[in-house]
Amino acid sequence: MSEQSAPAPVRAGADEDLAVRYGEALLPVFGTPQRVLVRGEGVHVWDTEGKQYLDLLAGIAVNALGHAHPALSAALTKQMGTLGHVSNFFASAPQIELAEKLLTLAGAPAGSGVFFANSGTEANEAAFKIARRTGRPRILALRNSFHGRTMGALALTWKEAYRAPFEPLPGGVEFLEVGDEQALAEALAPGDVAAVIAEPIQGEAGVRPLGEQYLRALRRLTREHGTLLILDEVQTGIGRTGHWFAHQAIEGLQPDVMTLAKGLGGGFPIGAVISFGPEVHDLLQPGQHGTTFGGNPLASAAALAVLGTILEDDLLEHVRAVGAQLESDVLALGHPLIEGVRGAGLLRGIGLTAPIAPQVVTAALEAGFILNAPDASTLRLAPPLVITTAQMDTFVTALPALLEAAAPEGEN
Ligand SMILES: Cc1ncc(COP(=O)(O)O)c(C=O)c1O
Repeated sequence: MSEQSAPAPVRAGADEDLAVRYGEALLPVFGTPQRVLVRGEGVHVWDTEGKQYLDLLAGIAVNALGHAHPALSAALTKQMGTLGHVSNFFASAPQIELAEKLLTLAGAPAGSGVFFANSGTEANEAAFKIARRTGRPRILALRNSFHGRTMGALALTWKEAYRAPFEPLPGGVEFLEVGDEQALAEALAPGDVAAVIAEPIQGEAGVRPLGEQYLRALRRLTREHGTLLILDEVQTGIGRTGHWFAHQAIEGLQPDVMTLAKGLGGGFPIGAVISFGPEVHDLLQPGQHGTTFGGNPLASAAALAVLGTILEDDLLEHVRAVGAQLESDVLALGHPLIEGVRGAGLLRGIGLTAPIAPQVVTAALEAGFILNAPDASTLRLAPPLVITTAQMDTFVTALPALLEAAAPEGEN
């Protein structure tokens, strides 16, 4: 959860009671939850009082197929009744099939491979370890990056407030300004950089695309200097931007390592690292990394159901169409508090001209819409990929009133 969202207070009644119990039983890591949710179906969720919400955040870009999708429920039920978990001392057909499918979707060349983890941060942790195995001491990350909360992923994450309480973190990480190709070239020049890690669209930073030119520069310069390019597609992958992976919007661009999670399991925890080509394949040697749960049959079956449904229902095309319509409809509002719409497909940041995004999120929640504010002047939308334009429209229609409810007097 982004720390920037101002959580709305829970309401009196059933929620209040549960909120007290939540406060007594759970560590205070996430602050006060906004609501207690009891049920979901499609693009909607319901709280303890039966209030319905249009879920425009999908568990932060996770519920690719929405809630309680029959294909996902059936796949999980069937797999759990067959073989739910085996350790990685053993293999399973769903795990192998999923790895093969991911390699195909990624267009990975012969000699590529997959490692399964349980989350985005774990996928990045594994990628970090792969980078270390090059023997080179330095790693470059980008300003405003977010790669997760474990110590390694945290070391790659820009925000000082997240990192400072846990220092010392793994060393050798330097941060570069996004878009500064000269700084990138200078940093890579000594030839001692193991990897550069980047998100094609910086999600937690407010849905900020790196842009084609800089991504191409990252690819060209890392290749020139024998440095790995790690693309963190934890938030942007699995159809979220209207491509299987966001970098595929750029013809011919392929990373050396890609990390995935969030949408992959459609709500079931699973992460993945894909290494491209034979040079990366053996950097992690047997025994140098591991996981108990990663890629177990249950998680793999969930991911296979997600990928299969995206394919069968032609959701990539759907995401592009609904996302483009959303962008033009929001811009067509011509509202003075709307600065623009960033992102691609169904990962969108609505930029505001005033720092009122947390208040808009609160007003939206009251009005029955779930979204969040990754920074004070951005509204993030990352709805289920199955959402329709008609469903998005209900939000676009409500948006001017939500902005005006949140704006200080005289700013609308
Ligand atoms: C780009 C990116 N990388 C990594 C992570 C961490 O993933 P997880 O929360 O599954 O550990 C996130 C989560 O928001 C993310 O957006």
